[in-house]
Amino acid sequence: MNVLDFQAFKKRAEKIVMLTCYDYTSARIVQDSDVDAILVGDSAAMVMHGHDTTIPADVGMMCRHIESVARGAPHKFIVGDMPFLSFRQSLPDTVRAVGRMMKAGAHAVKLEGFDGNGEAISHIVKSGVPVMGHLGLTPQSVNQLGGYRVQGRSNGAAERLRQDALACEQAGCFSLVLECVPDQLAADITDSLSIPTIGIGAGSHTDGQVLVMQDMLGLSTDFKPKFVRRYLDGRQLWQEAFNAYCGDVKSGSFPAAEESYGQ
Ligand code: KIV
Repeated sequence: MNVLDFQAFKKRAEKIVMLTCYDYTSARIVQDSDVDAILVGDSAAMVMHGHDTTIPADVGMMCRHIESVARGAPHKFIVGDMPFLSFRQSLPDTVRAVGRMMKAGAHAVKLEGFDGNGEAISHIVKSGVPVMGHLGLTPQSVNQLGGYRVQGRSNGAAERLRQDALACEQAGCFSLVLECVPDQLAADITDSLSIPTIGIGAGSHTDGQVLVMQDMLGLSTDFKPKFVRRYLDGRQLWQEAFNAYCGDVKSGSFPAAEESYGQ
């Protein structure tokens, strides 16, 4: 998978499968799976670090996660998420942040929102770094959006999203994440663009899908958005394993002779 394949997938109407990943051990498993591309999302701040929002993520945090994932999945296409405000200070600051993420092992960066970011997106693209756009629910703006809610429901908001999507394509984005938007709007945007859309809570008509790994593995059970499908009851399985281990230690059945070193 490289940046050109995203376009090729859309042309031949093959869905693109993305999954978030933040650590080396998980990345090694993703490496051997059919997943097309990895997003090292700033959702790391929530699922790996326990914050309530993605706002505490910074470039250093993202780089540590990108490095770990790149070591575990050296043959997957890795998109690194530009964290909160890292592309809003000045072009030189933005370029420095992008440089750190790319040197950490990303093959592209993702950047939330278009309004006010057009110049940064064009500049990054012209610097030779592929940019994935991200519209709809942009979690870094949670305080301005008033919560995690579906976007683009009114005619005006839907029209703004359509225009921003076109603007992302024109600014040079190679693909676009659409998060939490009505499925018909996501379908219209997908049909209007030549770059692929990657949906999360955006229905089935987008050119690809992305899910947060911990959500689809059933490891984050505090809340379950409507769009998450759980492929594993990970929390239950992990807990059973931990309790089985405790039982074995307490009963003295672990370690057994074959798990111990002889003289
Ligand atoms: O940070 C993230 O995981 C994301 C996805 C939800 C698209 O941006």
